[in-house]
Amino acid sequence: MSDKAKLIFEGKEHLFDVVRGSESEKALDVSSLRSDLDLITIDPGFKNTGSCKSAITFLDGEKGILRYRGYSIEDLAKNADFLQVAFLLIYGELPTNEEYVKFLNDINENAIVDEDLRKILENFPKSAHPMGILSSLTSALIAFNPEKKMSLKNIEDDREYMYNSIVKLLAKIPILVAWVHRRRKGLPLNYGDYNAGYVENITKMMFQVPNQDYVENKTVINAMNKLLILHADHEQNCSTSTVRIVGSSEASLFASVSAGISALWGRLHGGANQAVLEMLEAIKNDGGDTKKYMSKAKDKSDPFRLMGFGHRVYKNFDPRAKIIKVAAHEVLKDLGIDDPILDIAKSLEQEALNDPYFTQRKLYPNVDFYSGIIYKALKIPKEMFTVMFALGRVPGWIAHWREMRMNNDPIGRPRQVYVGSTHRTFKT
Ligand code: SDX
Repeated sequence: MSDKAKLIFEGKEHLFDVVRGSESEKALDVSSLRSDLDLITIDPGFKNTGSCKSAITFLDGEKGILRYRGYSIEDLAKNADFLQVAFLLIYGELPTNEEYVKFLNDINENAIVDEDLRKILENFPKSAHPMGILSSLTSALIAFNPEKKMSLKNIEDDREYMYNSIVKLLAKIPILVAWVHRRRKGLPLNYGDYNAGYVENITKMMFQVPNQDYVENKTVINAMNKLLILHADHEQNCSTSTVRIVGSSEASLFASVSAGISALWGRLHGGANQAVLEMLEAIKNDGGDTKKYMSKAKDKSDPFRLMGFGHRVYKNFDPRAKIIKVAAHEVLKDLGIDDPILDIAKSLEQEALNDPYFTQRKLYPNVDFYSGIIYKALKIPKEMFTVMFALGRVPGWIAHWREMRMNNDPIGRPRQVYVGSTHRTFKT
């Protein structure tokens, strides 16, 4: 198998190294392109461009494969809990019992938020979108947890410091998420139960009501656990690439994750789960005419897109969508909810799977198509759906920030092709 590729340009030949990954993915190493041929590549949206080597998550878009550190998403969603998966993504191996207990204890020891941060939250306008609040508060965490400059040289000495930043973030983000949710519902901002598990504590913080006994609902816990695992990482997606490039300037973990939250907010990315539910509700309120909306999605003059469909990498079913679709059924049945929205979603899916416009473009349901149906059943408002996506994605963002720092990756600084005015003089 050749590990070289030849480019002939303006009469000059150039041999490139071909990099092969552990799953036989191939990449052209163009790091010498400018110096040798005075050429750069251009690839809007980086559809064909790898930004790094990574050992965290593997996707196969054609086969619909998703693995975290080699474990299939199906295995993990069925057998693991979210904190185990967070440890696996960040440190590369599933935690031993001792490691798990220490990780949870260290997180619980940091599970408190400065009172002044609570005041910042209470001063946001009620109309502020939860994702904007979460991104701001995550950045504000730096003010209350000043992070010393980590030098890349003695990363070993920083290992302990990096661990402390990681457990702090895993401890405080769920509190911010719960408080943003509770403030919207006019509930007091409280803490959960440090004797409970990580997801159990998150769920209690979000849903407990004053002066009422909080009864843990296993269906809700299992659904939250599964959804958080399914959202935990997805290699170099828009928001993770944002975390890596912000972190590559040696910005702190909190600042890098705050940037990732902002990138996830967009409706083409994590914001799609809220947009899907709004779309399904619009179809329901419009008499359930799915065919009308399918036509709109195919009409190039109509800005409407079938939200929750399509994916940059998956050109087959998003394996997460398959798992969430089954889970949506189970959760609605267990909670005794009959939601016509689920039927509308399944009709849209069936029509799309039989429509050449979608099949030719390989547009299948993605992770966002069914997730909102479960969040709605858990009584989470749709404005909070993308916040729930962010909560799940935090371990992935941490894992990539840590990998990028441990690998001593260079600061990200893409080139461009300039197409503006050529030189002109300023005339007085
Ligand atoms: C996430 O990258 C990740 O891993 C992301 C994510 C993660 O876990 O981090 O998986 C999470 O972001 C999932 C995606 C959520 N977004 C949506 O559901 C929004 C709707 N989908 C799209 O807008 C779109 O499919 C993207 C953004 C997801 C992917 O866009 P691409 O890869 O840039 O593809 P494209 O926009 O160039 O579309 C190719 C063709 C176009 O038609 P033609 O120009 O070829 O005629 O497919 C069409 C598009 O118009 N198309 C759609 C469509 N998605 C693509 N047409 C109708 N409805 C859609 N949803």
